[in-house]
Amino acid sequence: MTLDKTKVVYQIYPKSYKDTTGNGVGDLQGIIEKLPYLKELGIDMVWLNPFYPSPQRDNGYDISDYTAVNPLFGDMADFEEMVRVGKEHGIDFMLDMVLNHCSIEHEWFQKALAGDPYYQDFFFIQDRPTDWLSKFGGSAWAPFGDTGKYYLHLYDVTQADLNWRNPHVRGELFKVVNFWRDKGVKGFRFDVINVIGKDAVLEDCPEHDGKPAYTDKPITHDYLHMLNEATFGQDGSFVTVGEMSATTIENCILYTAPDRHELSMAFNFHHLKVDYEAGQKWTLKAFDFEELKHLFHTWGREMSEHDGWSALFWNNHDQPRALNRFVDVEHFRNEGATMLAASIHLSRGTPYIYMGEEIGMIDPEYDSMDDYVDVESTNAYQSLLAAGQSPEEAFRIIQAKSRDNSRTPMQWDDSPNAGFTTGQPWLKAGKSYPQINVTKEQDGPIFTFYQKLIALRKELPLIAEGSYSPAYEDSPQIYAFERHLAGQKLLVLNNFYPDPITVDILPDYQNAQVLLSNYGESQAGQVMTLKPYETLALFLP
Ligand code: NOJ
Repeated sequence: MTLDKTKVVYQIYPKSYKDTTGNGVGDLQGIIEKLPYLKELGIDMVWLNPFYPSPQRDNGYDISDYTAVNPLFGDMADFEEMVRVGKEHGIDFMLDMVLNHCSIEHEWFQKALAGDPYYQDFFFIQDRPTDWLSKFGGSAWAPFGDTGKYYLHLYDVTQADLNWRNPHVRGELFKVVNFWRDKGVKGFRFDVINVIGKDAVLEDCPEHDGKPAYTDKPITHDYLHMLNEATFGQDGSFVTVGEMSATTIENCILYTAPDRHELSMAFNFHHLKVDYEAGQKWTLKAFDFEELKHLFHTWGREMSEHDGWSALFWNNHDQPRALNRFVDVEHFRNEGATMLAASIHLSRGTPYIYMGEEIGMIDPEYDSMDDYVDVESTNAYQSLLAAGQSPEEAFRIIQAKSRDNSRTPMQWDDSPNAGFTTGQPWLKAGKSYPQINVTKEQDGPIFTFYQKLIALRKELPLIAEGSYSPAYEDSPQIYAFERHLAGQKLLVLNNFYPDPITVDILPDYQNAQVLLSNYGESQAGQVMTLKPYETLALFLP
């Protein structure tokens, strides 16, 4: 069975969704409570960020036990209830599998540290560190106890990379995936899965960061094929997505083309780096529309022509809110949110909605560094100061770029802490919650537009399955594409700016049906003026 392309995935950061115990941390019972809300939105599957036992140094991406529930979030009975009640609502779950690394508190690492050679082979331990950099700053190697040796950690120092060359490691990890598969989940999101295949010998790199020695290596495709065969591949209805760090189109085609039996789809992040100065995250720069348009077109066209499949998204738990990055949010929040939504939900790929996006949530506007929790942000702040930035400049950068921007509590209503918790939230709620919350937004223009987009994907095979081709490639303001399927055609125009723009409509579409507009437009014409952040979908049945 091939992937069901009518599905839409909703991402929940469990820590921040809904707290039912008053401990300030969201929990599985909170997710159960909100399943009717999610059903109302119309989504099919919920991706949950890690909720396993973990020291929470990287908010759960540092796992110390892969097959249990962290008591912070509930217990296994809660998990089973969640899966069951989810199915009653037509909602399946996708779990986050962090298989590139585990916490140094995991028993595998602890046994390795205690001198067990079997477990030492689970990790990369060597006498001399290479010049590779950790993605969270500093060296990617740390002293391995008092042995005089070093272990590899591409992420935080407490996240030790697992050695996939060792068949015992692969065997253990496949068991983990099957444990959750057998609990009734229907999807997996594989964390940074394109860095699991490392070179056989780890050496200094000419680039001095190590990336060429572990990114998209051919052996990773072999590992994914093995994973597929040993776990979810036995059930054709599974939805799997790989998070790909600094990847290429060629590799994403290989990861996702159905005849390769690797994954259903891939996340790439190139479009979310168009506001990086010289490729560096911790900088301030307005987004580069030309680059964004070019990336969307190139990926859209290539994946379409070569049978690859992308996961489409604007937001996740690692990104500041897209509304703050791509939209004049002060004046056009509704228009911008709906335009951004249409630009991916009508495109080719599986759309992901990150919690709060459906009500137009924005960055929290914290006042002080003390409000931030994320290890990457606090490390970056120190690095910015060390590089000579003033505390004010460094803070402005963190405010714009921190991952905590999207991790703030879900804004349910205007009661204290946005209705997320009756206790002290683990991360402060955003300042906007009295105005932007589910109670206020559920009948509003953004939520109802998302409902329409989700419904359209189910009604029209053209949206779910159609090919992608770029349109209006030279427009300075409009990102547009066409979809084609069995004689049907769709043209989607998205104005990415607060200024109106007049366009000549492609001849075929001048009398087309208006399938969707975020301004209630009802008629196509020869020449049309797109209003600020307008999105317009013209349909030829
Ligand atoms: C990607 C995850 O999305 C991010 O939150 C995490 O810090 C890294 N992988 C390391 O697991």
